[in-house]
Amino acid sequence: MARPRILVTRPVTEDALALLRAECDVTVGPGDREASRQEILDALRDCDGLLIVGHTRVDATLLDAAPKLRMIANFGVGVDHIDVAAATARKVWVSNTAGSLTETTAELGWALILATVRRVAEGDRLVRAGQWKGFGAFFFLGTELVGKTLGIVGAGRIGQAVARKAPAFGMKALSWSRTPKPDFGAQPRELDALLRESDVVILTVSLSAETRHLIGAREIGLMKKSAFLVNIARGPVVDEAALARAILDGKIAGAGLDVYEKEPEIHPDLLRCPNAVLAPHIGSATVETRRRMSFLAAENLLAGLNGRVPPLALNPGARVSGNSAS
Ligand code: 8YV
Repeated sequence: MARPRILVTRPVTEDALALLRAECDVTVGPGDREASRQEILDALRDCDGLLIVGHTRVDATLLDAAPKLRMIANFGVGVDHIDVAAATARKVWVSNTAGSLTETTAELGWALILATVRRVAEGDRLVRAGQWKGFGAFFFLGTELVGKTLGIVGAGRIGQAVARKAPAFGMKALSWSRTPKPDFGAQPRELDALLRESDVVILTVSLSAETRHLIGAREIGLMKKSAFLVNIARGPVVDEAALARAILDGKIAGAGLDVYEKEPEIHPDLLRCPNAVLAPHIGSATVETRRRMSFLAAENLLAGLNGRVPPLALNPGARVSGNSAS
């Protein structure tokens, strides 16, 4: 039987690629940029499998242009760039790397919280600019976390991991989620109440039609003037223009962001906010996690191509297990 052909949109680790090359003919996309839509369409035409590294958009048009496709493995947990229903309708399995990046992304959440409330990035810029004149008792004051309230929007794996670390900083945790969750150490609240009560609000929800612009001018208006907003979820969960406006007008104290509405573009007003810490979508970017993600994506892809339900399939019923040819 012919070896399956697969497209890996950007390089994963060498050992995960070796795993794939042992069974498949592999095309790997560019290492330094996201491949264009046309490049993906051309490369995917005769492929049986697709491993998405980044945010390649998969919709009905792309699926129809790749009639042999039976398996899509996403390198990452969020699949807002993939039309899973359209894939299911065409008997294509879709998997993600759930569980591979929980702690690492929660750690970045805390890094952003700390950097934001203690003005770490702003201080770094000041020192490098040669503007530091030495110690001052009331110079560059930040905000203490101990005794304060952390509001976690989204109570999935990452939200729960963020909550687990809150007691170490002496913070009380609140949470809001669309679906009720068993107790994980954060007191449940309605979203408006959480926004009103919290000193730091951190967003961990996945992006969907319901969560697009979940946080806009009205919601930011409910927050304390002294509060901070941190986003490690997806950019479009926040109305970026409204957030920048609120920061510039002093309606909230600052923000720590890892994700943006139109990556890699950033709203120009946000770039003008000294009290916004801007990270370049690095939530899961650690050596350990990227290695785990590479293997999980490769293993799921191979399972699907071999006719087995991928262990992390989001639509396990899309195909009949054991039937690798149809
Ligand atoms: C990835 C992510 O960097 O898993 C996610 O949802 O945002 C990140 O871990 C991204 O998906 C690129 O592959």
